[in-house]
Amino acid sequence: MDQCAAIECLDVVEFTVIDIVNQRISAKASERLAEVMTSPACNLLNFAREVKLTKSEVTCGIQSLKQVGWRCDDRCQEFILRSDILGLSTLVTAQNTRKPDGCSESTVLGLFHVESPALYALGDDIANGALAEPCHISGAVRRLDGEPISGARIDVWPADEEGLYDVPHDSKSDALARATFIAGPNEDYCFRSIVASPYSIPHQGPGDRLLGAFGRHSWRPAHIHFLIEAVGYEPLITHVFRDDDSYLPSDAASVVCRPLIANWVRYPAGPTPDGSVSATSFCTLNFDFVLAPAAAQV
Ligand SMILES: [Fe+2]
Repeated sequence: MDQCAAIECLDVVEFTVIDIVNQRISAKASERLAEVMTSPACNLLNFAREVKLTKSEVTCGIQSLKQVGWRCDDRCQEFILRSDILGLSTLVTAQNTRKPDGCSESTVLGLFHVESPALYALGDDIANGALAEPCHISGAVRRLDGEPISGARIDVWPADEEGLYDVPHDSKSDALARATFIAGPNEDYCFRSIVASPYSIPHQGPGDRLLGAFGRHSWRPAHIHFLIEAVGYEPLITHVFRDDDSYLPSDAASVVCRPLIANWVRYPAGPTPDGSVSATSFCTLNFDFVLAPAAAQV
C-alpha cells in the first residue's frame, strides 16, 4: 500500500468505510475470495445504512448468531437451518444445478442425509420398524429422451409418523426406512418403506424463534428424500412431497416446487402391489426421475 492509500485508510468514516473495507479484503486475497467476500461485506454495510441499523439491533443479531453456533454439533446443524429459512440454500442449489427442461428438479440435501446407507435389493422392505403407515414406492430413472438409465444408485430417507428421521433416534442403532438401491436394467426401482410425515424444525431453537418472530410456523411438509447417482449424469438430490399436506405452501425451509409434489395413493387393508396382503391400510407412490447428462448445466 502506498503512503497516500495508507493515509486514506486512516479516515474510516461513515461514507468511506465501504470502500476501505473492500480495499482491505481485496489487497492480498485471491481473486475469487476477494469477489466472494467484498460483495457480502459491501451489501452488509449498505444494508446497515439503508435500514439505519441501531446498536441494539446489531447486538440482537450477534446474539442470535451466537445461539445458532451453540446449537451446532455433529447431530444438529443450525447454520444450515438458518440458510434454509432465509432461502439461501434453495437459491444456491438452484443456480448450481441448472439443467435442461424436462429434467427432475433439484433441492437441498437437508440435515439428515447419511453417507453410504445399507444396500438393499429392489422390492425389499426397508422400514425396519419405523413408525408409520406402510408405503410401496416405485418408479423409473430415465434420460431426457426417455431411455432407461440402468444401474443408477438411489438413496432414500423419509421422516416417520413422529416427524423423526432415524438419525436423532437415540435408542435404535439400525437405520430405519433409510437405504440404498441399484436401479434395475429397465431403469425401474421399487421398495417398501413408510409414508413420509411432516416434521418441525427443532423447537425452542434459534431457527424456531426466528420463524416465530416472522409470524411463521416451523413445519416442513411431508416428503421423502432421494439422492440418485449414475455414471455420465449429474447427481440428483431432491424431495418428493405429498400433495395432501397443508404445509406445502408455507414450508419452513422454502424448498417446495410443483413438479416434486406427488399423489401418494391410500388403500384399505388388502392386496398390495408386491403381491403381499397388508393387514393395515397402506399407500403407494409412483414417481419417475429424469437425470441431466453430466456437465449439462445451463
Ligand atoms: Fe427432510
